[in-house]
Amino acid sequence: MKKIFVGISGIGSYLPEKILTNDELSKMVDTSNEWIVERTGIEQRRIAEESQATSDLAIEAGIRALENASVTPEEIDLIIVASSTPDYIFPSTACIVQHKINATKAAAFDMNVACSGFVYAMATGANFISSGVYKKVLVIGAEVFSRIMNWEDRNTCVLFGDGAGAVVLEECDQDFGILSYDLGSDGENGDVLIVPAGGSRTPASANTVNDKLHSVQMDGKAVFKFAVKTMGKSTIKALDKAGLKIEDLDFLVPHQANTRIIDSSMKKLNLSKEKVYTNLNKYGNTSSASVPIALDEAVKEGRIKKGDNIALVAFGAGLSWASIVMKWNRGDTNG
Ligand code: UT7
Repeated sequence: MKKIFVGISGIGSYLPEKILTNDELSKMVDTSNEWIVERTGIEQRRIAEESQATSDLAIEAGIRALENASVTPEEIDLIIVASSTPDYIFPSTACIVQHKINATKAAAFDMNVACSGFVYAMATGANFISSGVYKKVLVIGAEVFSRIMNWEDRNTCVLFGDGAGAVVLEECDQDFGILSYDLGSDGENGDVLIVPAGGSRTPASANTVNDKLHSVQMDGKAVFKFAVKTMGKSTIKALDKAGLKIEDLDFLVPHQANTRIIDSSMKKLNLSKEKVYTNLNKYGNTSSASVPIALDEAVKEGRIKKGDNIALVAFGAGLSWASIVMKWNRGDTNG
């Protein structure tokens, strides 16, 4: 059977308009612009309107990716939404997107692998195409993290932001597109980054609300160490599987959590700064949306050209990690 190569045929992103600056945050909690910039690299983040839920952001990004791919919603076979902040426990956010964009024949499901979610979802979507089951898959990473923040906890509330990014996956030319991936998990240390209540372990109650157990709790130092250890390792593993070396890598789009994490990981890899994309100064950590938003901006800025070997790498709650290595399959100015 002929091998089917899978590439990105369209990409798009959406950021809510409202900006929350570090100075504004320093009026809400005991922090400062200097501390946040020095320790994280974040200068501002976007916050969704009260009327906007995750599906609203996902739809905007999804439609932009479809337009960029010149694919209509009716042609889509499958929609996967990666998110840790779905509209509801159920129905899935992907089903809401499917209905609202009128993707009449699409199957739809959500994936929750926190910040690694988009890369996991892209690998999953690609498998549906390479196995010959589907032809066109829409993969979206979308988050409204501002809804699960404890706005009194300076350890977390300065870090995250809202946004969405999406790609359309389709068959591409031979030897282009996704070459390999590396997915992994370390559930043993899952409690270092957690939203403790609202699930079956600790259902919502007056107490869980009072104790702010529906918002993110994090051991920042433990996550930092895990991230630096994992990002480089996973990138190398995925490159290895593709038969490539670090010297062959033209561009890397990492999860946008903290510039110090990115810098330390890249130093370990011996990868120069020019080959690594960052935009977390503008958006903070948008969890599963961070990689597709960054990839979209890198493509629109002309940083990636046809034939480039690129890597996407993410880490997050779970704990979890994910990398994809691909040979960029598009050559037009829009990506
Ligand atoms: O997608 C995955 C999501 N999570 C992450 O990527 C987080 C990974 N971790 C990190 O990015 C970093 O650990 C943080 C940015 C969260 C914290 O940076 P750090 O350099 O590890 O700081 P720290 O936790 O060691 O705290 C240093 C000091 C502490 O004060 P003391 O104990 O030295 O007096 C904190 O209380 O900084 C204090 N601090 C703050 N000060 C001002 C913590 N948060 C803040 C804040 N503003 N927002």
